[in-house]
Amino acid sequence: MTLVEQLEKIKIVPVLVLNSLDEGMAVCTDLYNNGLRAAEITFRTSAAEEVIREASKRFPDMIIGAGTVLNVADLHRAFDAGAKFAVAPGFNPTVVKEAIKCGFDFAPGVCTPSEAEQAMELGCKFLKFFPAEAAGGTAMLKSLIAPYKHLGIRFMPTGGVKPANVESYLEIPEVAAVGGTWLNKCPVETIRAAAEIAKKYAK
Ligand code: 3PG
Repeated sequence: MTLVEQLEKIKIVPVLVLNSLDEGMAVCTDLYNNGLRAAEITFRTSAAEEVIREASKRFPDMIIGAGTVLNVADLHRAFDAGAKFAVAPGFNPTVVKEAIKCGFDFAPGVCTPSEAEQAMELGCKFLKFFPAEAAGGTAMLKSLIAPYKHLGIRFMPTGGVKPANVESYLEIPEVAAVGGTWLNKCPVETIRAAAEIAKKYAK
C-alpha cells in the first residue's frame, strides 16, 4: 500500500513537538491506544530523531513520520531512524530531490499554484498545504486543486486545522489526511474525538 493509501485510512495526523524520548513514548502510546495510528514528529526539538526511531520499533503498525524537515541532514536522520514519510512547511527543491533519490516519501509544503507546479515537476504527487487556514482555508485549497484534479495530486492541509474546521477539510476528496498540533500532548478525550471523526472519513 502506498503512503497516501495508508493515510487515506488514517485521515488525521497529530503534529507533535516532543521534548524527550519518555514524553514521545507516552504521547504515542496515548495516540495508539485511543485510535489515532499516525504521528508527525517534528524536528523542532533535539528529541525528534530518537523518538522516531523508538516509536517506529514499538508501534510498527503506526505511520510514524517526520515533520519540519528543513534540510538534507534532517531528511537523512529521519529516514535512517525509520520514518515512513517526511514533510516540511515549505518547498525546498534540494530536499525534495534528495528524498526522491532515497525513495523516501516526502511532501513539501505549498500554498500557491507556482509552488505546487514546481513540486509536481520534480515528481511530487503528495503535497502539504501549509499554512492552511492563513492561506485561505478550504476555499483556497479547492481553488488550488481545481486545475490539477486530473493529475491525481493529494494534499495534507495543516496550519490552523482544528476540531471546528477539520471536517470541512476532510470532505474534500483530494485531501488524503489533515495534520494538526491540537493533538500534541492533548487529553485522551481529544484523541478519541478526533479518532471518531477520522473513522467517518476513512477510505
Ligand atoms: C505544522 O507544522 O504542520 C503546523 O505547525 C501545524 O499547524 P497548527 O499548529 O496550526 O496545527
